[in-house]
Amino acid sequence: MAQPPPDVEGDDCLPAYRHLFCPDLLRDKVAFITGGGSGIGFRIAEIFMRHGCHTVIASRSLPRVLTAARKLAGATGRRCLPLSMDVRAPPAVMAAVDQALKEFGRIDILINCAAGNFLCPAGALSFNAFKTVMDIDTSGTFNVSRVLYEKFFRDHGGVIVNITATLGNRGQALQEASSLHLKLSPAAGSETWPWPCALAEGRAALSYPTFFCADAMTRHLAVEWGPQNIRVNSLAPGPISGTEGLRRLGGPQASLSTKVTASPLQRLGNKTEIAHSVLYLASPLASYVTGAVLVADGGAWLTFPNGVKGLPDFASFSAKL
Ligand code: HXC
Ligand code: NAP
Repeated sequence: MAQPPPDVEGDDCLPAYRHLFCPDLLRDKVAFITGGGSGIGFRIAEIFMRHGCHTVIASRSLPRVLTAARKLAGATGRRCLPLSMDVRAPPAVMAAVDQALKEFGRIDILINCAAGNFLCPAGALSFNAFKTVMDIDTSGTFNVSRVLYEKFFRDHGGVIVNITATLGNRGQALQEASSLHLKLSPAAGSETWPWPCALAEGRAALSYPTFFCADAMTRHLAVEWGPQNIRVNSLAPGPISGTEGLRRLGGPQASLSTKVTASPLQRLGNKTEIAHSVLYLASPLASYVTGAVLVADGGAWLTFPNGVKGLPDFASFSAKL
């Protein structure tokens, strides 16, 4: 029961697909997927479309989403609208949502999958680098959710799935940096920032404040928007093969492979497995599920080392304020 479904490494559709759920599960629904032109977001779009859904895929690079949309529509026979949009720019988000509504007349599902991250010691992270990641991952998730709420979900209900990660879940080395967020995030200046978050670390010092924030946002929005029949959940993937995230943040291959083989399911996950979990959360199968964080990581976060042994490496990094 823990055998993975087949997958392919690149941003290409699956050559064959065997349905595990009913093929009509999302028949004629419309999903707006940020970051849908690559990696996990691309596969989510494909699996949704293979279950009858139409999609809007939105990210900064128009060529990327155009190419992806062609592949997705060709493989599934469903419609896919590619849009260029930066989640950090509310006017661009509003324009994209307007365009999607003009095209389809409805949006039933929002998947917040856009993200930007990189490995960097916290002590060498510039203010702007930190802000950039926060702006994309955390503010971006809020921006798109807020616009969708205003323009459609408030009156019609809807489903939101935020793609997060488990990296802020545990005590991690350099945890003292968690206070950085409160000092540096734009909203924190007003002392009303509602989502306390933590900086965790991976191989070396690595900033992961955003995922904690997004999971807290999931819970807050689930509470506030539940009465409007809007479900809000998080899906936290583990290390997933064939993705930019793994390429950037997995660390040296040898060390990653040791960590992965020591984890409960002893392997990387694949994009289709993540898409299946997101499909469940977005579908009527999860009609009573809201405010939840579904971890799909083969148990990795329970056993992955927290990097304490790497702490001495930080001695040479200096703060650049
Ligand atoms: C330190 C860095 C840096 C790095 C950029 N910066 N890369 N600092 N180490 N590797 C700093 C820059 O110097 C600058 O600060 C600030 O960040 C903004 O950089 P820009 O290049 O201007 O930002 P932008 O063009 O907006 O690009 C955003 C980005 C980029 C996040 C920096 O990498 C990107 O577009 N990423 C999208 C794709 C991605 O990251 N996919 C992986 C998602 S995986 P200064 O001070 O110089 O101005 C994921 C988690 C996976 O989310 C978990 C796996 C286990
Ligand atoms: P990815 O392919 O790099 O996906 C990130 C997407 O976000 C890209 O399509 C990118 O497209 C888009 N994006 C980045 N900045 C944006 C912005 N400012 N506005 C709009 N779109 C933007 O990486 P991935 O590994 O598949 O990650 C997908 C999601 O899974 C992310 O949320 C990540 O945090 C999460 N995750 C991944 C892993 C993993 O192992 N891969 C593990 C845990 C969590 P453009 O460049 O065209 O904008």
